[in-house]
Amino acid sequence: MSSTPASLDASLSKPVRDTADKISSSRALLTSRYPSFLTDPYAHHFGTMNASRPTSSLSRIATRTRVFDCFVESSLENNYTQFISLGCGYDFRFDRLDLPSSATIYEVDQKEVIQNKLEKMKQHSIPSKQPQIKRVPSDITSPTLFKELQSKGFDPSLPTCIIAEGLLYYFSPEVARGVIRRCRSACTDKVCGMFSAVSEEAIGGMGGLFRWGSDDVSQTFTQQGWEFSTALVLGEARCGGDCFNDFLKEVGEYQPDSSEIKLSTTLMTETSGPLTTKKTFYVACHSENNEHKPFSEIETQTRDSASSIDGSDTVVVVLGKKLMKNGEMSNELKGRVLRAAALNATFSNATIIFSGGLGEASQMLSYARSTFGPSSCSNVVLEDQSTTTRTNAQLVSSIIKRNPQWKKVYIVTSVYHNNRAVGIFQETLSAEGIEDVSIFGHPNFFACPESASKNEQRHKTKS
Ligand SMILES: C[S@@+](CC[C@H](N)C(=O)[O-])C[C@H]1O[C@@H](n2cnc3c(N)ncnc32)[C@H](O)[C@@H]1O
Repeated sequence: MSSTPASLDASLSKPVRDTADKISSSRALLTSRYPSFLTDPYAHHFGTMNASRPTSSLSRIATRTRVFDCFVESSLENNYTQFISLGCGYDFRFDRLDLPSSATIYEVDQKEVIQNKLEKMKQHSIPSKQPQIKRVPSDITSPTLFKELQSKGFDPSLPTCIIAEGLLYYFSPEVARGVIRRCRSACTDKVCGMFSAVSEEAIGGMGGLFRWGSDDVSQTFTQQGWEFSTALVLGEARCGGDCFNDFLKEVGEYQPDSSEIKLSTTLMTETSGPLTTKKTFYVACHSENNEHKPFSEIETQTRDSASSIDGSDTVVVVLGKKLMKNGEMSNELKGRVLRAAALNATFSNATIIFSGGLGEASQMLSYARSTFGPSSCSNVVLEDQSTTTRTNAQLVSSIIKRNPQWKKVYIVTSVYHNNRAVGIFQETLSAEGIEDVSIFGHPNFFACPESASKNEQRHKTKS
């Protein structure tokens, strides 16, 4: 019996399935070359085309993977407990990320893909998080998909996060719109989603596989019932557009002439133009009863390019995060310190506040000093009592109050935490009557501990 989804021509079913293999091949290659940027330990079992993957697609997949990871992490942080991955392919996001036991995940794909995934997991002894992750072979475009998910335990009244990475453009416009609409209407409480999309000009691309594209994706989503929708272009700073380039610079592998870099820079320069080129978008959307607005308000100011700016009016606040079970800082937290140190280096006489009362404030300082040298963080204040973002903000506000010379506050945290943290700091400073201080989000998009030693070497060479 053929399992070709009704929406796909039989002739397209296999080529579309094969795209899952291609993406895994890219992730496998990224994992072997840049493990501190992206580690998918299972990708190599599923990606069989490593040698033939064009490097030009690596930058796009690298950033896309981080964008979706951040979206899911952000949703976990905002108490979403139910996740649906449509067209999951051979992605292992939910196996890689640290999930609370309260989270339930439904991965949906064509029968052949799910079967192959399960078989290979068995063959390669990949640990399975079942029953937490339910793998559902089904046709995403079927109007009864969510009914079917309900029979497997999906609860429409729970806060739900839906992702569709690299999927919608394989459908006809009408079918794509139906999927978008049902994702919203199937959930009766809070729902948020992130979907890949392409512009109209991309239709016909990928050897004819791309069938739906839109130059106003944001409007498409609101027309299908989503109350809020933001289209993010790969190259936008707030979408982490140049994060892979940043990473390559950190590890000393940035080559402006290589094709993967060119792709990224091209996308970056296109972001302010009309939305008519073959662009890749990420649409982040959510329902009305929802304060979780990932990526919608991140500061897009220029990065720390200039040097020796007088920073006597500047304070860089690094928000802490619980230490790992072994008492060490997570890669993510180290990434925040690295971003803060880079920012600090652009301002002379700025002050850094390491904030976090779960043992991490002093560890952040030691990490910064051991990485960048003892004199790298000369003006440092430790706030080591706070246990939540709100108490971070309250205790840091009282320090700011005692230092009226500080007029600019840079909050450094992970990208998924940025909006919330900046909002809470704004509220708290305003409640304290501190009105003449500007707050900037300066999120760190990725964890990159291994680059520390290279940074250290560079720092030593410079000084
Ligand atoms: C480009 S892959 C993306 C895979 C995964 N999200 C990733 O990023 O690694 C697209 C996936 O969508 C699946 N797909 C496409 N149309 C489908 C449909 N109608 N029903 C179920 N799965 C479908 C394909 O089988 C394929 O695994």
